[in-house]
Amino acid sequence: NARFGVGLLGHGTVGGAFHRLLEERADAVAARTGRRPHVVGVLTRSQGDFEEILAASQTIVELIGGIEPARTYVLRAIEAGRHVVTANKQLLSQHGDEVFEAARKRGVQVRFEAAVAGVIPAIRVISESLAGAYIERVHGIVNGTTNYVLTEMARTGATYAQALAAAQRLGYAEADPTEDVSGKDAAAKMAILARLAFNARVGLEDVRYEGIERITPDDIAYARELGLSLKLIGSAERIDDGLAVMVYPAFLYADHPLASVDGAFNAVTIESPAITEITLSGPGAGGIQTASAVLGDVVSTMLPAGAQPPPPRAVKLVEDVEFSFYLH
Ligand code: HSE
Repeated sequence: NARFGVGLLGHGTVGGAFHRLLEERADAVAARTGRRPHVVGVLTRSQGDFEEILAASQTIVELIGGIEPARTYVLRAIEAGRHVVTANKQLLSQHGDEVFEAARKRGVQVRFEAAVAGVIPAIRVISESLAGAYIERVHGIVNGTTNYVLTEMARTGATYAQALAAAQRLGYAEADPTEDVSGKDAAAKMAILARLAFNARVGLEDVRYEGIERITPDDIAYARELGLSLKLIGSAERIDDGLAVMVYPAFLYADHPLASVDGAFNAVTIESPAITEITLSGPGAGGIQTASAVLGDVVSTMLPAGAQPPPPRAVKLVEDVEFSFYLH
């Protein structure tokens, strides 16, 4: 098989998990695309040379996070004609115009499924499946750390500090967890979703946000007593001829589609009058989960637009399996 060079920038929780996953899945990806992806080099603060890695790669995967030096590397990779896959919500919500415009001019792809809600395909659904739909409103739980903290406080009576420390240990939190608890991480993600859903120039600076820092055990007890769920909610909606994009803690009634989304799970609800509503939910944070979304994007950059799957392999059908009439 021909080889496909992937340059990896960053080797933290997601970068390390992506590196392992790519090696594990390289043969399967080769069967799908005809080329075997491999990491040509890894750039961290202490090792690797960016220009050398760039020269050897066809797609650059940026998992450094934060604005600089990520922004410089991403723009340089685009300028050099490379596709870029990134999970960097702060970069895209603060410099999206610059990055997307550069990619459009150079004719390369910038893919960022992993930037919002981990492995949940919210980006693809909004920008591809619903590309022709009129979207009225997007609601979501788009930060795994805060959802985990709120769930643990309600479920086990853990303190805020204990629950946050556990979320950090489990690899859900940002390098600086202030971004999670202040609502800034969720705000960046809602800005990205709003840009796609409404084809509008929305950036982080347009999002009004509040996090979970002022939530008290009393708030949690109050919610529990009334059978409500306390969640950090992101919302982006059309109001008259404008848009409102916000992140704030809210009490949800039990029948709300986001009320039972617990732990580090995320969910995104997309409302469109013609199709009613779609709710996507699944793991929203964590190394391996986010790495899986990154890998999906890398594979997309390996395929020509509109590529069909290769001829399938023959399988053995297993017939002596009973039906399960009751499912949990
Ligand atoms: N810190 C983020 C979260 C990681 O908790 O959701 C995924 O973007």
